[in-house]
Amino acid sequence: MRLVQTPVIPVVGRLIRDNPGTISLGQGVVHYPPPQQAMDAIALFASDPENHKYRLVDGIPPLLERIREKLAADNGLELTAEQRVVVTAGGNMAFTNAVLAVTDPGDDVILLTPYYFNHEMAVAMAGCKPVVVATDDAYQPVPIRIAAAVRPRTRAVVTVSPNNPTGAVYPERSLRAVSDLCRERGIYHIHDEAYEYFTYEGHRHVSPGSFAGSAPTTISLFSLSKSYGFAGWRIGYMVVPAHLYGAVCKIQDTILICPPVVSQHAAVGAMSVGRSYCERWLAGIAVVRNLVLDTLAEIPDLCTVPRTDGAFYFLVDVRTGMEPMTLVERLVREHRVAVIPGSTFGVTDRCTLRVSYGALTRETVAEGVGRLANGIRAIVGG
Ligand SMILES: Cc1ncc(COP(=O)(O)O)c(C=O)c1O
Repeated sequence: MRLVQTPVIPVVGRLIRDNPGTISLGQGVVHYPPPQQAMDAIALFASDPENHKYRLVDGIPPLLERIREKLAADNGLELTAEQRVVVTAGGNMAFTNAVLAVTDPGDDVILLTPYYFNHEMAVAMAGCKPVVVATDDAYQPVPIRIAAAVRPRTRAVVTVSPNNPTGAVYPERSLRAVSDLCRERGIYHIHDEAYEYFTYEGHRHVSPGSFAGSAPTTISLFSLSKSYGFAGWRIGYMVVPAHLYGAVCKIQDTILICPPVVSQHAAVGAMSVGRSYCERWLAGIAVVRNLVLDTLAEIPDLCTVPRTDGAFYFLVDVRTGMEPMTLVERLVREHRVAVIPGSTFGVTDRCTLRVSYGALTRETVAEGVGRLANGIRAIVGG
């Protein structure tokens, strides 16, 4: 474990607690609660005493059924006998299940930088080597670079779209290129779709699991945390090739036994509302996003913000030689605003900061991003 990076969110969380009044643009959460239907479904959970016992390792049947319907309607993923769904305790667990299922210690897993830090950590914990491949200046994948990084011990390529920490939405042609590469080389394409509903300005989310012929080598990961304001309930799910189902069940049985049953019932309630629930909030988040962009555009000599079209993040490039964590600490202590240093996402050649705007509202965005812009002005420009 000494070789695994310490997650930075709790470190920044401590800084926030030690500096009361800090506005957090740190953690990747939305500002809205789950739908009422999730709460209502808890009554159903409580009505059956059997629900207090262990349930099936891969999820309760009504939730699995709801997920199948959603995958067909929203993701173009009509499941066949070649694929299985497993409910997990969140998308992070789905990823860990996937890595443990497809690797032996010492294998390589390709991650694109900037990566989601828990992906890099999970790969390291599995005793595998994260092989990092840089995205381009717009944070888009470069398939030719990914192909060049595949080696005999490569077991998987990981993509995240819409992306954390950059907000980039990968176009269909890039995802197809990665999917085809994985099929041709007999390795897995692990695709994280936690932000599937969060796209702006007409950009469309694409699920590689829907590509013809991709089923045997595609592992698709989903989460209710963001879409349904469900982070604390810990529910996600994964679509795996049928040949991996036994391995994933072994892992999950050992680590979790079964996903929390009360949360699964709440998830059935939430998913009965469907994507329209998230879309109801999305227009407001889009307004916040524009305000973030406008405010940071006021300091073009101090930072650049690659304009990306998904999730609720921007990875801001700050023109300074400062260590990003030092800048983060000063922003909290001196300006009462928290962001996440890009170094934790594997950006080590420059100073970047991840700005998360999902927790902001129209009422709080001006103050939050205003503090950030003023802080950068004072610390970097001054
Ligand atoms: C890309 C990505 N995957 C997974 C997760 C974690 O999701 P969950 O809460 O479902 O574990 C996050 C959370 O920030 C994320 O950004």
